Amino acid sequence: MLINRPVPFLDLVLSISEATDLIDLNINDHGKRVAFIALNIANELELNPSDKHTIIIAGLLHDIGAFSLQDKLKAASFEFEFKYETKEINKHAELGYMLLRKFKPLSEMAEIIRYHHFTYKEAEKLTDIDKNILLFSQIIHLADRIDILIGRKNNILNQVKDIYDKISEYSEEYFNPELVEVFDYLKSKEYFWLDIVSNPQILTFSRFLGYLPLDFSLDKILDFSKMFSQIIDFRSSFTATHSKGVTATSTALARLSNFSDTECKMMEVAGYLHDLGKLSVPAEILEKPAGLTTDEFDIIRGHTYFTYKILSNVANLDTINSWASFHHECLDGTGYPFHLKEDGLSLGSRIMAVSDIFTAITEDRPYRKGMTKTESLKIVETMAKNNKIDADIVSVLKLNYDEINSARIIAQNEASIEYKEFRQYYNNALNSKK
Ligand SMILES: [Fe+2]
Ligand SMILES: [Fe+2]
Ligand SMILES: [Fe+2]
Repeated sequence: MLINRPVPFLDLVLSISEATDLIDLNINDHGKRVAFIALNIANELELNPSDKHTIIIAGLLHDIGAFSLQDKLKAASFEFEFKYETKEINKHAELGYMLLRKFKPLSEMAEIIRYHHFTYKEAEKLTDIDKNILLFSQIIHLADRIDILIGRKNNILNQVKDIYDKISEYSEEYFNPELVEVFDYLKSKEYFWLDIVSNPQILTFSRFLGYLPLDFSLDKILDFSKMFSQIIDFRSSFTATHSKGVTATSTALARLSNFSDTECKMMEVAGYLHDLGKLSVPAEILEKPAGLTTDEFDIIRGHTYFTYKILSNVANLDTINSWASFHHECLDGTGYPFHLKEDGLSLGSRIMAVSDIFTAITEDRPYRKGMTKTESLKIVETMAKNNKIDADIVSVLKLNYDEINSARIIAQNEASIEYKEFRQYYNNALNSKK
């Protein structure tokens, strides 16, 4: 049952990028397309495979700091960048940088993302930044603006002249002129444009890479998912500590259910990633404590489907995926989105369902206090009685309540400190730019 094989890192980042772009149909696949355009430019510059890999990852994640629909739409407007002071458009770039910088394999990409809306003139003044980092962020910048200019409804080959004219109008002031020259050369190749609009896939990427991107071991995946849980949670103060709490609960329950060390690590990864699909939900909706419209609720209801979809695009993550993604399924088949029943829900998936409910009702939120021991046990026991969640796991929770609950509280307190630091750092960064 256990799969503990290396996971292709690029697959994971690729599907995460797709998920964040689901926030609005007009920006569908934007990260992927930017990565693809940037890769084509890198290819013309004959950069080495490892630099190309860096550029692809930075391209895929460049707007990861744009949490709300508003941020996304601003970043997707060509004029916005030129009309307003850079600090406004740089907000999401700074946030993205802060979230990614602590994770070693992504620290270089974090730097590139930080400067991806700097104009050429501004970037030239950054004398203490590595030249390559600056060049790569200028590549992402240009690729980003090219994709923004592509009309999604009209034939792509019709638009080439207009797009090029607009870009070259801003050459030197906003874009690195050498890169605009590369674009001038690329623009005449029909395949370049047709590739962009026909959903560039991983194979198209590797066609240019010339080597196999790095694989992640379980330990690396654990580091990555821990970092990523911040990106999932920090989008709203309402969810800021949730994934950490779920992870502490699910890992404690797994250990008490005699899962092996490796299985407990896998459970930890599943906990950090269980709400990954929430990246497809605009922060504006996450921030609404009550009174969601049916439309808004439908958007939220899709989140576990997207967790599943994202993780199923990644090789060797099947078990972790099933533990992470089925947390809103019920034993009697009334859950969502797959309406699985008892025979489709493994012990790991059942543990996650209990952990998610338990954390959701006991955690403090900005608008309400968490439930007490008696209140929360009453809720999970009633759900077990109604065949929604597993009664044996609920008994383990009841028997070890204090141990599990204090592990949850410690984890969420830690996350809360990290969240405050993140906000603080971010506010300081913004103020110092004024
Ligand atoms: Fe951006
Ligand atoms: Fe969820
Ligand atoms: Fe959750």
